[in-house]
Amino acid sequence: MAQLDTTRYDSIRRSVPLPHNGLAARQSAMESNQTYSAPLIEDERRDPAIKLGGADLSSMWLALIRQYIRGEPDGGLSACSQTAGAALITAEDCAARLADADRVFAEWLTPSGRSAAQVAGVGPARIAAALNHMHHESRCLTMCDDVLLDNVVALAREVIERRVPGDFIEAGAWRGGMTILMRAALTAFGDMNRTVWVADSFAGLPAPNPASDLRDAIWHHLMRAVGLLQSDLDAVRSAFARAGLLDRRVRFLAGWFADTLPDAPIERLALMRLDGDWYDSTRDALHALYPRLSPGGFVIVDDYGLPTGCARAVDEYRVQHGIDAPLVWVNQQAVYWRKPS
Ligand SMILES: C[S@@+](CC[C@H](N)C(=O)[O-])C[C@H]1O[C@@H](n2cnc3c(N)ncnc32)[C@H](O)[C@@H]1O
Repeated sequence: MAQLDTTRYDSIRRSVPLPHNGLAARQSAMESNQTYSAPLIEDERRDPAIKLGGADLSSMWLALIRQYIRGEPDGGLSACSQTAGAALITAEDCAARLADADRVFAEWLTPSGRSAAQVAGVGPARIAAALNHMHHESRCLTMCDDVLLDNVVALAREVIERRVPGDFIEAGAWRGGMTILMRAALTAFGDMNRTVWVADSFAGLPAPNPASDLRDAIWHHLMRAVGLLQSDLDAVRSAFARAGLLDRRVRFLAGWFADTLPDAPIERLALMRLDGDWYDSTRDALHALYPRLSPGGFVIVDDYGLPTGCARAVDEYRVQHGIDAPLVWVNQQAVYWRKPS
């Protein structure tokens, strides 16, 4: 990951008034150019009412973290676009990739008489738009928009305030932005104990088996254009550290979900966010994690509305386990439901 210029981010944080010893210590650490540590952040939360002149410092800080992970200029990370300068992916590029997919997947396509474009579910122009969003327009540490960020903050707050027991996890953390926001939400809403689990291959999207989900296999072929969304574990750690949020309450599960999640030392979850795109990835994460979700906890599925196998995995799991809790749409792509008490 490219080095990020956090100068402006730090200067905004310095301008936030500091009414409390814990915050003052953090400020002092920042000014002396040291990395401030989690105990200071937790210390500040022992006083839940960090308000000054009506301003809610927790909200302001959470807003800064959001800007940071989105790479917005006010977050001081305007220089963070890791793909800046890369050429736009055109509809013509995607038409060529689809033609290539017709050849590569002929064995599975021919019997059904369908083309790769038909199986992918969208045409070259929309594929180009989707790939460009991921590759060029996506912000620094997350490709999720404000509605999705709002959703995570709101559900995190709900489980913390209602004392639903358990940790938070994102399976499909990519560059870590959503998990940074989860860790920030713990602090902002006064939680002292939970862990945030950051699960990803850090090697990009796995190759789906075309016999099990041909649509995912074709999308995987198309997403070679965006490097299969490969991220880097050390860069994600650094991104946490730059926000002052890399501490013992952040734990990484690096590897394929099928290998890392079943035996992960997670006792209970209160919030699980699945963002692994494919049928297999979503199925593996649900099977390993949903049994550990506390009643009253939430599962968010980022890719339910995508033309991939994610929705099939969710629907199958819900039918198999008799889950009839209503699905709530967050936007046109993501859904969540609450595990009944
Ligand atoms: C769309 S990205 C996630 C975006 C991210 N949540 C955000 O905030 O922008 C999908 C991620 O899921 C990971 N992934 C998908 N399937 C996986 C699997 N079976 N095991 C491990 N990682 C997986 C990929 O490596 C990739 O980083």
